[in-house]
Amino acid sequence: MKRSHHCNQLTIDDIGTGVRLIGWVHAIRDHGGLFFIDLRDREGITQLVFDPSNEGLRAVHSLRDESVIEICGTVSKRPPDTVNGKITTGAIEVVVDELIIHNICDVLPFPMSDLKIGSVSEDLRLTYRYLDLRRPRSFHRLQIRHRTVGAVRNHLDANGFLEVETPYLFKTTPEGAREFLIPSRLNPGCVYALAQSPQQYKQMLMVAGVERYYSLARCFRDEDLRADRQPEFTQIDLEMSFIDREDIYSLVEGMLQNIWQATRNITIETPFPRLSFRNAMDRFGSDKPDTRFAMEIHDFSSLFESSSFNVFASAIKNGGCVKALNAKSLAGISQGEMKNLEDIAKTLGAKGLAYIKVENGQWKSPILKFLSDAEKAVLTKELDMAENDIIFFAADGWERACMILGRIRLECRDLAVAKGKIVLPADQFNFLWVIDFPLMTFDEQQGRFVATHHPFTAPVPEDMELLKSSPKNVRGQHYDIVLNGMELGGGSVRIHQPQLQEYVFREILKIPENVVNDRFGYMLKAFKFGAPPHGGIALGLDRLVALLCGTTSIRDVIAFPKTQRGIDMMSQSPCPASDKQLRELYIRMTVGSGLKK
Ligand code: AMO
Ligand code: AMP
Repeated sequence: MKRSHHCNQLTIDDIGTGVRLIGWVHAIRDHGGLFFIDLRDREGITQLVFDPSNEGLRAVHSLRDESVIEICGTVSKRPPDTVNGKITTGAIEVVVDELIIHNICDVLPFPMSDLKIGSVSEDLRLTYRYLDLRRPRSFHRLQIRHRTVGAVRNHLDANGFLEVETPYLFKTTPEGAREFLIPSRLNPGCVYALAQSPQQYKQMLMVAGVERYYSLARCFRDEDLRADRQPEFTQIDLEMSFIDREDIYSLVEGMLQNIWQATRNITIETPFPRLSFRNAMDRFGSDKPDTRFAMEIHDFSSLFESSSFNVFASAIKNGGCVKALNAKSLAGISQGEMKNLEDIAKTLGAKGLAYIKVENGQWKSPILKFLSDAEKAVLTKELDMAENDIIFFAADGWERACMILGRIRLECRDLAVAKGKIVLPADQFNFLWVIDFPLMTFDEQQGRFVATHHPFTAPVPEDMELLKSSPKNVRGQHYDIVLNGMELGGGSVRIHQPQLQEYVFREILKIPENVVNDRFGYMLKAFKFGAPPHGGIALGLDRLVALLCGTTSIRDVIAFPKTQRGIDMMSQSPCPASDKQLRELYIRMTVGSGLKK
């Protein structure tokens, strides 16, 4: 069953050659006298011609799209008016003299062409994922993923990294995402957690003297799922000893350069720009800013300090701020679109979303009567206000005001793209390092500090002395890498001194003593046995490949992804376990299966 050529190979140079091809029936055309089949394999398409008077080929009439066939035939030149310049094999066809049918395809559950696939629900595509993956576009995405992984391995290999596998069955630890638990049959009453990331193991590898580790690590997190989040996903995870932040930046920049070159033949410029967390929030209202378009946020707190619009003046008096952005040329948005923006702002806790529209040279705004001429002049200049612009305001605490306008900015981006007001080229890749995050963030609900990245992140040396007096002002040696508004990866230089790590666990994060000992005791102990200074980063492979493929859903670049409800539609997992299985694991279910059938 060996093919002589694949389906994207034959050209006019092969005319007269006898060939054997194997593949799927991509399309069937019955032209009365002659019968044509486009035969497809993963490489491409070749046109086959069947002579209906050939008795040996009668079975061709039983074929349906996506059946698997093998043929022998002779390469022949197509008549000039039937040449297809769009495909490699478009100048030839194969005149078939033998047909072997390997599998007749049933009636397909959905049309497979890229043109029609858009109208098929994702659940149905995922139920028949093997058909969905058979489409050339899906295969191309798997190929890009494969090449990405190849480029990663080459780059890290060339830089002295060792690929080491770490356990998936790990210890349950507080302070991260919600974990998947695995009951241990051999240790009644105990559980493993599926590793959220190899974080603690890779730090142990540094203590073990490996110096440079990487792995393409599967990670498991029981989070609410979105387009960019799966319960199991893959990280390009690495860790290095005796380095500082600059070493990580240049290593990762070089790796991304190689990936873009290998997969897209695009040269990306390095070094990447850097933005502090504070500036990112101030200017873009996000810690993962999309810098492909402007609409930057401006601060008008000093302008409105004694404004006659009480909402603004009192926000500032209460320690907050007034910020605004100019959504260029969007004054014409519909009432529905406006209401949607207001609703979004309100779900983020905004009390309102004041705006000013400039139409026919006039300002239109519910707050117009409160604005003085001087205030208007400053707004016009600072926000470069012109005909058809619309300005949105947020008056609130700093973080909330940033967040509200950050989200409005992205909504306005989508509106502007849909209305053709801005164009985001498919091959524009704006990489960015976001740095100088606060080490800790105060969690109002828990009434205590939580680590902004994770509790192993080292403070910036200059801020060390603030650790006791003013933890919230300590910056962490943490960095995120952002691409076109998506968080691609994050990492940090770690704490390697046991006393400091213990202080962070106990005194800052207020993790109870017994929990520290139980969960992190082994780590604190390891740090007492010659722990080198170290740091690392993890990049989300699925997100990276999605951006390379020009899609925003990581489900498109994972062979067998789960739905938003965490279900593998194809195999229908998760599913209930048998009583025997549960008994062996000492588990009693307190609810029936909640699975929708
Ligand atoms: P972090 O938790 O920031 O860091 O994760 C690193 C990157 O992994 C990707 N990612 C995800 N991708 C898909 N689905 C998910 N549910 C998901 N969660 C995270 C993101 C993210 O930027 N151990 C640290 C890294 C380190 O400090 O070295 C860590 O896991 O792209
Ligand atoms: P009001 O005087 O409450 O009717 O508010 C006038 C305008 O200001 C309305 O368009 C509100 O949506 C808007 N607004 C109210 N509170 C805020 C706020 N905190 N930030 C921004 N706009 C607001």
